[in-house]
This record gives sequence, structure tokens and C-alpha cells, in this order.
Amino acid sequence: MSGTKLQHCTIERDSDGIAWVTLDVQGEAANSLSTEVLKELEAALDELDSGDRPKGIVFQSGKSGFIAGANVQELGAIENATEADALIERGQRVMDRIEAMTAPTVALIRGFCLGGGLELALACRYRVADRDPSTRLGLPEVRLGIHPGFGGTVRLPDLIGAPAALDLMLSGRTLEGRAAQRMGLVDFALSPWQLVDATRDLIRRDPGRHRPKWWQRLAGTLPGRYALKPIMQRQVKQSARAEHYPAPYAMLDLWVRHGGESAPSRIKAERTSLTRLIDGPTAGNLIRVFLLQDRLKREARSSDVVVPNRVHVIGAGTMGGDIAAWLALNGCRVTLFDEHDKAVASTLKRARSLFQKRLKRPERVTAALDRLTPDPRNRGVEGADIIIEAIVENLDAKQGLFRSLEPRMREDAILATNTSSLPLEQLAEGLQQPGRLIGLHFFNPVAKMPLVEIVAGEHSDATNLDRGQALIASADKLPLRVKSAPGFLVNRVLMPYMIRAAELYAKGTQRESLDEAAKRFGMPMGPLELADAVGLDVCVAAVDVMAEPLGLEVPASMRSMVDNGTLGRKSGRGFYVYDNKGKPDRGRISLEPAELDRLGQDLIKPLLDEAERTRDEGIVADGDLVDAGTIFGTGFAPFTGGPLHYREQHSGQRG
Ligand code: NAI
Repeated sequence: MSGTKLQHCTIERDSDGIAWVTLDVQGEAANSLSTEVLKELEAALDELDSGDRPKGIVFQSGKSGFIAGANVQELGAIENATEADALIERGQRVMDRIEAMTAPTVALIRGFCLGGGLELALACRYRVADRDPSTRLGLPEVRLGIHPGFGGTVRLPDLIGAPAALDLMLSGRTLEGRAAQRMGLVDFALSPWQLVDATRDLIRRDPGRHRPKWWQRLAGTLPGRYALKPIMQRQVKQSARAEHYPAPYAMLDLWVRHGGESAPSRIKAERTSLTRLIDGPTAGNLIRVFLLQDRLKREARSSDVVVPNRVHVIGAGTMGGDIAAWLALNGCRVTLFDEHDKAVASTLKRARSLFQKRLKRPERVTAALDRLTPDPRNRGVEGADIIIEAIVENLDAKQGLFRSLEPRMREDAILATNTSSLPLEQLAEGLQQPGRLIGLHFFNPVAKMPLVEIVAGEHSDATNLDRGQALIASADKLPLRVKSAPGFLVNRVLMPYMIRAAELYAKGTQRESLDEAAKRFGMPMGPLELADAVGLDVCVAAVDVMAEPLGLEVPASMRSMVDNGTLGRKSGRGFYVYDNKGKPDRGRISLEPAELDRLGQDLIKPLLDEAERTRDEGIVADGDLVDAGTIFGTGFAPFTGGPLHYREQHSGQRG
């Protein structure tokens, strides 16, 4: 082979005259398409276009993934529409040139092929993907408040038809190679050892680009577009409001208005629309949220520690059972003990349905079930790298348990508690090695909530905290280091907001209006629905822990609801009354939109105030982490960029 080495990619020509372009961005764990990398791809294309023309061109990666997308750091640093437009124009130019190559082009895809990476693959005539589940293809730009901009909104519908393309782009979901092949997104999904031969074969045969079936093309015609428009619009409206999340609406609009035009004119419309989105507030805030998420993962990886793998969970209730299942799903070897065997049996049932939903293939479900072992004799204590305690929230019970465990644990094993309210310092009393106790505070429901608070007690050993953090990150959750203080971060910012809602309700504000006001602001659930889902008794107990230090008080009416057994959804009655299918007796909203907006501000104010106080008290390392914790732990409106960011951006508008 003869070759050229550039900074981020190499071009090698083999004896068949095929040019292999291998992208390996220097200094980065994953390939991304920054301006610098795009410039280099242009240089590579210049070389391929000059002199001896190759018989075929293959784009592949020198890393474990193909290309993760555009460079999000760079996107986040864009200051105005001119900068945005310049980046998009360059990306589109590179993709257009790849598409225009006379020699057949193939993207050889292993690992992540997302966003701009998939757009590069779409610009190639053919795509060959590894069928291993670690290979994932998708256009997840919508999650950053934008849409594809390097020709993806044009080439994807042209390749697989508009309905499937819009579904992929609007949901941002990713596909494995085999699913991508069924859809026509890749030509072949194969085992690793077959990829190169299949690539050469495609170049030799050059059978022509995949085309959607006639009925898939129908949706792209003018009547097809207008017939599909209301259906798609309804779907989009259900998941996002236009003023909060404009990107899906912009994507639909592009397709409806320009879908029938020539490719160059659609590409131009894509560029104009994306520039507008990048220049608007939502994209900036969602990119910020993405970078915060990245920071939480990166900080967990930065410490050089051995990640615990053998986990013993004690307490198989709501939390312990789901924690055990989640960790087994994500590769840990888990043993599970509860003083009631029934609790473990019920966990195994829940775990099976979680594994089936997430892993789909029977052999992977079986492997995950094999990693989750019921341990009726509590033997796992001796061999575990980490023991996670999730028994009842009672100081004496937990202290007694810890004292009995410590002599049986390995010298270097970590003891973690899922307590939501008990001070770690008190829980560690009586331990020979108090440094081994850390908090791992998961949220309910475990499978849905991305955040886990890593609680540092006064005595917690730094290495144990690092190891706990690494375990959580390796299990695909976002770890956030918090100080051991009442309510940690998440409950502390959430409870004042829920209490405000209960107070307003007690004073006569309609419950449906309260919940709607919060949702209009951008919360995933209203505060009263949330209190009913969590359990009013759990809320009251959580507030009581913070009552004195924070000056919070549970409204008397809410406390008496708990005393009367009105506990929320689980007792069939809380702020709402639930039928036997769990459906609440929700009525019509009585307030007007403008009143709801004012009410939303009133509700959210205590949360914003508390977020400021947690930053000032150093509950987490800085304000950005307060925003990250609040978004990932409470679902706080991501398009705002977090409570502190929101307050900063709207400080001029406060009355
Ligand atoms: P739960 O009542 O559903 O489960 C507790 C389980 O522990 C029961 O199955 C019980 O049989 C078992 N158990 C009690 N004492 C035991 C012992 N000495 N040895 C072995 N098993 C024992 O409680 P839940 O809701 O799962 O809470 C567990 C912990 O997680 C508590 O500390 C709670 O504060 C915390 N937490 C709860 C959240 C929630 O939303 N439920 C959220 C975050 C934390």
C-alpha cells in the first residue's frame, strides 16, 4: 500500500486501486467533525481528485467508533448566525463533494455513527455496518435543539423514504446495524470479518445507490406531504411545545415546504433553517445540557481507580430491587438479599421484563439474568467489591445492619447507602472503618432517572467515592458528587417547589391549573401529580429532614392527608383520586394561559431560590453542577439550561 498521512486522517491505496481514508482525530477519544477535521477531509478529497483516480473510496475510522457527530464543543462556542452558517456551509460542501465522487464510495461503519458521522455515510454511495450491537446509527441532533445540517434532512428521506427518515430525525433514536439494513439505511450489516470483503465487492460491482420503494416515495409527493403533515404535527405536539423545542417543528416545516424541490435547493433550505436554530436560545441551552452531561461522565472517568464489579445489594424493595436489576443489566455481577424472600422473587420478575425491554435478544436477556443472583443466605457480603444497602429508612436498622456486615466484608470493600435523608456521619457511627461508607442516592424509578448522587460524608474515603462514581458512570448513569447535607441537592431544590404547590392548593388554587402551570413552564410533570406519584408520606418525611435547616414547613392540610392514609397514587387517593387502572380524576383547567404563566413563575421561584443557596453553600462544586443535578435529577426544563442559567438569562425580566 502507498499512502499519505495528514494530521487527523490517512489515505492509503491498495493494489486494487482502492483508496482507504481512515479518520483518527488526534487527541480525542472519538472522531468528531470540527472545522479543522472538515478542512482536512477537503484536503483528502483534493488529493483523491487529483492525479491517479482511485477505483473506489472507503471511509473508515481508526478508532473503536466511526464518527460521533459534529464537534459539540465547537457548536457550543458559536456566537452568531454568521459563524453557524460558515460551519454548516463547510460541512455541506464536504458532503456534496463526497457524493459527487465518480468512483464508488463506501462508509465502513463500526461503532457509533451519529449526526454528522451518519451524514458523511449518507453522502457515500454505499454503507456497510458491523452487526455487533455496539454499532449504532442515528441522527440525534434534535436532542441538541437542532436538526441535521450536512445534507442529512435531504439524503436520509431520499434513501429510505420520508416517513422512516422523519421518524428517525424527530425521535433522535439510534439503530443497530441489522435494523438499519432492514430500513435500507445500510446496504449490509455483517460480522466484523466480513466487512472488508463486502466493501470490496460493492466497489467491484457498483450496483447503484439504494432507492426507497415506490410506496415509500409516495410520501414525498405534494399530496403525500400534505396528507402526512397533520399526523406528524400531532406527534410532535405531543412531545414538545414549539416555543420550548423549535427543532422538530423546523424539521417538519422543511419537509412540507421544500420536500418537492431539487436536492441543492433543499440543502440550501436546510442550511438557512439550521442557522436560525443555532442562533436561537434553545439550541444553546440544550448544547449546554449535553456538555454538562459529558462533564459528569468525564469527571467519573478521570480518576484512575479500579471500578467495582461484584455488587451485593441488601434490601429488595422498590429501590434495592431496581438498583440490582439496573446494575446487572449494565454488566455488574450482582447478588441480592432481602429478609423477605418474596421481595427478591418480585425483583427477578421486574428484572426480566426490564432486560427483555432493553436487550431484546433472548441470549442477552439470559446473560443479564445470569448476572443477577438471588442470595437468600446473604453470602455475597464476603466477596463483594461494594455492598449497596437499600433497606427501610431507619437509623437504628441501618446502623445495626452495618455493624453486622463490617466484620464479614473484604478489607477494601465499599459500603454504600441509598438513604435519602439520614446523615452519613450518623450512619457511620459504630463502623471500624467509617471511611468505607459512601452514599449512592438513586432516584425512583431507577431505570428512568439518569442521575445518581454520590454522597460524601465527613469521613468518606476519597478513593471509595471515586470508585463509587466510576461504578455509576460505567452503569450508564450520571454521577454527581454532593455533600452530605439535608436533602443533598435534588430533594433540596425540589421540595420547596412541591411545598409551594401544596400551599397554593390549600389556599384554593385549582390542582389541575397548578400542574398545568408547571408543565407550561417546561417541567415533565406537575408538582401535585409528582407528589402523588412519589407518595405524600415520602414527601412529608423528606421535607421534615430539611424543615429546620431550610425553614420549610409542610402545610397542615398535607400532613393530615398523610395521617388519614391519603398517600397518593399507591393508596388510590392523594391530591387526585385514582381509579383501579391508576387514572386520576383530572378535570378541566380553570385558569387562562396568561394566569397559568404567572402561576408557573410563582411555583418555580422557590426552586430557583434554593438552587442559588445550594450553590452558595457548596453542596456541589459549582453552579453548573447545580444546573446539571437539577435537570437530570428532577427533569427541570432542559431547554432552559438549568435553574441558575435560567435565572441569569431572565434576570432583567424579573418583577
Ligand atoms: P422498601 O420498603 O420498598 O424496601 C425496603 C426493603 O428492605 C424491603 O423489601 C424489606 O424487606 C427489606 N429490609 C428491611 N430491613 C432489612 C434488613 N435488615 N435486611 C434485609 N432486608 C431488609 O423501601 P424503598 O422505598 O426501596 O427504600 C429503600 C431505601 O432507599 C430507603 O433508605 C429510602 O429512603 C431510599 N430511597 C427511596 C426512594 C423511593 O422513592 N422509594 C428514593 C431514593 C432513596
